[in-house]
Amino acid sequence: MTRVAILISGGGSNMLRLVQDMQAGGYAQPVLVASNDPQAVGLARAAACGVPTAAVDHRSFGRDRAGFEAELLQPILAAKPDVLCLAGFMRVLTPGFVRRFDGRMLNIHPSLLPKYPGLHTHQRALDAGDTAAGCTVHEVTAELDAGPVLGQAVVPVLPGDTAETLSARVLVQEHRLYPEVLRRFVAGQREPVFLDSDR
Ligand code: GRF
Repeated sequence: MTRVAILISGGGSNMLRLVQDMQAGGYAQPVLVASNDPQAVGLARAAACGVPTAAVDHRSFGRDRAGFEAELLQPILAAKPDVLCLAGFMRVLTPGFVRRFDGRMLNIHPSLLPKYPGLHTHQRALDAGDTAAGCTVHEVTAELDAGPVLGQAVVPVLPGDTAETLSARVLVQEHRLYPEVLRRFVAGQREPVFLDSDR
């Protein structure tokens, strides 16, 4: 069965949906949830689902990004994942790390890529006067937030929206989109899936 490791940095709500969908659907096995923050709340949520966890505090490595990644790779490689999912993982990975998982690492980004790669995506969409926003699941490549799109979900921007209200609306769709894309990815499908949020 396809083995899936998930990297998180915080609450892990996307991770939880992936774990729950794999455990319910039986199409893959969550073999590890790892974080760059030992205090990440998602670690306890993963453990509560019976998924092994690991944490490497990136702050212990200062600017030594490669050193942090070498440490983080230990539990990841020990778990022997076939697929690596970034889910609310807030560290930029070096091309060397990405190459190890070339073609089998996914990420969810809270914008309709290629619009708004990087941070503060919701505020940027509001500042631009966009009438639609959303999220994207893409394959991770060496260029940040730029790999092949595997799925997108669109939400309306509503009058009076703030970054917080828009983020909350998008997050609901992230939780629908990521499991849908992972199921297809594991089945070898690469055609992008597009969800709209009329449900
Ligand atoms: C969310 O805002 C999501 O858009 C982004 O990371 C943030 C936290 O996600 N991917 P999670 O709850 O830790 O999955």
